[in-house]
Amino acid sequence: MSENSYNRYTITAALPYANGPVHIGHLAGVYVPADIYVRYLRSRGRDVAFVCGSDEHGVAITLKARKEGVTPQEVVDEYHEIIKDSFEQFGISFNVYSRTSAQVHHETSSQLFKKLFDQGVFKEKTSSQYYDEEAGQFLADRYIIGTCPNCNYDQAYGDQCEKCGSSLSPSELIKPKSALSGGEPVRKETTHWYLPMENYENWLRQWILEDHKEWKANVYGQCKSWLDAGLRPRAMTRDLDWGVKVPVEGADGKVLYVWFDAPIGYISATKEWARSHGKDWEPYWKAKDTRLIHFIGKDNIVFHCIIFPSILKAEGSYILPDNVPANEFLNLEGDKISTSRNWAVWLHEYLEELPGKEDVLRYTLCANAPETKDNDFTWKDFQARNNNELVAIYGNFINRALVLTHKYYNGKIPERRELFDIDTEAINRVKETPERIAKALEAFKFRDGLNEFIDLARTGNKYLADTEPWKMIKDNPERVHTILNIALQIAANLAILGEPFLPKTSLKLLNILRTPISNWDSAGGAELLMAGHQLGEVELLFEKIEDHVIAAQIQKLQNTKDQNAQAEVPVKAPKPGITYDDFSKLDIRIGTVLTAEAMPKSKKLLKLLVDTGIDKRTILSGIAQHYGPEEIIGKQVSVLVNLAPRKMMGIESQGMILMAEDSSGDLKFVLPSETVDNGAMVS
Ligand code: MF3
Ligand code: ZN
Repeated sequence: MSENSYNRYTITAALPYANGPVHIGHLAGVYVPADIYVRYLRSRGRDVAFVCGSDEHGVAITLKARKEGVTPQEVVDEYHEIIKDSFEQFGISFNVYSRTSAQVHHETSSQLFKKLFDQGVFKEKTSSQYYDEEAGQFLADRYIIGTCPNCNYDQAYGDQCEKCGSSLSPSELIKPKSALSGGEPVRKETTHWYLPMENYENWLRQWILEDHKEWKANVYGQCKSWLDAGLRPRAMTRDLDWGVKVPVEGADGKVLYVWFDAPIGYISATKEWARSHGKDWEPYWKAKDTRLIHFIGKDNIVFHCIIFPSILKAEGSYILPDNVPANEFLNLEGDKISTSRNWAVWLHEYLEELPGKEDVLRYTLCANAPETKDNDFTWKDFQARNNNELVAIYGNFINRALVLTHKYYNGKIPERRELFDIDTEAINRVKETPERIAKALEAFKFRDGLNEFIDLARTGNKYLADTEPWKMIKDNPERVHTILNIALQIAANLAILGEPFLPKTSLKLLNILRTPISNWDSAGGAELLMAGHQLGEVELLFEKIEDHVIAAQIQKLQNTKDQNAQAEVPVKAPKPGITYDDFSKLDIRIGTVLTAEAMPKSKKLLKLLVDTGIDKRTILSGIAQHYGPEEIIGKQVSVLVNLAPRKMMGIESQGMILMAEDSSGDLKFVLPSETVDNGAMVS
């Protein structure tokens, strides 16, 4: 269908997991492009439902809750609010921001599952899966932790090693352990319902590879490799007690797979919005003249291009996405953004630390959007974009045009007189720009669209620099009338055309220009503002960002780096060789801790009284951050007893307790495998 034959748009943005705040990677990859697109459509008067919400199910959320000793609901309640607020402040103009724990979503996803179940779509299959006997629970892949067979990282998950990035299955892990109880999991039979993906393969090949050759190369390419590799049945249910209950008899303790229910969240959100606005949700999902577009990041491609469409197709009454303009990833200062390493610019922190600069970030992220390949965000580039583009080009142009108009005409728009070539060129440029931006945006080329926009500001800036009205006001005032009139028409166009990219700035500019005109189709005109129209007070659109502001952000990241380096104590380099004689000089004995107490004013030291078998002596040990005094009284320890005594904080320490330090910096006692008499010698 051609662009103009659509009567309605349903635009979705990936539902972010509510197990943490959102960062610049989310904004650049999904929400800024989606919002630009939607604002553009609305400005053209289109009927749009822009839907999103929090993705609140899945194992990651239950894991986080367990770790923090709270309920999953408490976790999602907290982050739902933070995420929602960040989006609002950045002007992401969802019609609705819902959540998958909402009742409407439980109903919608449950009904859809039931419908497919009743149609006999699913295949029921029993297989053996890991089970934690202590916790009495089946273990999702994420719940199984063990050593990675590829890189030996000992905290690899059953589905993926986060150290080396390889994808795993739980059975590949060396020494698998349950993340719940720490015990060794056993295998146990369980029944699940599978979507027979292989049945949709031919249809998907036709629908994507033949009928949607226009999809972005990165998206098309990923779909093609999935399809070429062959599709296999995928379980649509899980053994978990957090999520949408499987609406089938005998499915107690089972919930819908999070990737089954989450995309249905788009539909539930649409229902919620429609209900509260007295609308009908169905045309937005079922009418052929509705254009459905999913904005997502590249890790979501298979779910939105292959699995969800298969589900909708199987159901039969839904439309399918017309396009899925997925982006690649945004890196930060050369490194992959990582929640666990805290390597990110968190939106809620940005909003606090750089208040009023929401549009600057939108601008930078759009200018650097990872549209065709991964891209890098750097604070220096952020500063340069602000100072050299927003301030020096756009802001400067607007400011000059306004200041001169106030100075010469008390802020009233002057009349246009005779036109010279340079004027018609500028006017022509204005005329062409809306179409150029529109073309870019409709092809999901948001960077190109933004470039067209800033180029118009550049044109305006250059027009004033070339015509130099300030030099003519005495000798040729007629000419100044024309120049400022045209400059202000460019300004009005910038306010309209910039709205999708820089909504707050456009609002501010429209206020200064005191004009309510803001729809796209009026842009391109050079008569938007009438002669005689009174402008408001001059205000700066952007401010220069000083070096110290950027330095502080870079320092903040450096601190994160330092902390991470400290946390990851690498395996220490081997020491030079020694003789047996060297070793035999060490007198190491097994002793028992008789008393233990914290040392006032010391975070690290514990004061121990140890029975070494030879004597009872005082030893200061730097273990206070790892063990409490009460934990170690009565414990056997290894002691280097012939170490020269040393005074610390006024107390003499007579020997040293031997400890092993692991890669995370944790200390553990070095102990004989069984209890031995005090005084036993280690040799
Ligand atoms: N929560 C997922 C993620 O952050 C995205 C879900 S998109 C939806 O990767 F389709 F499931 F909604
Ligand atoms: Zn690994």
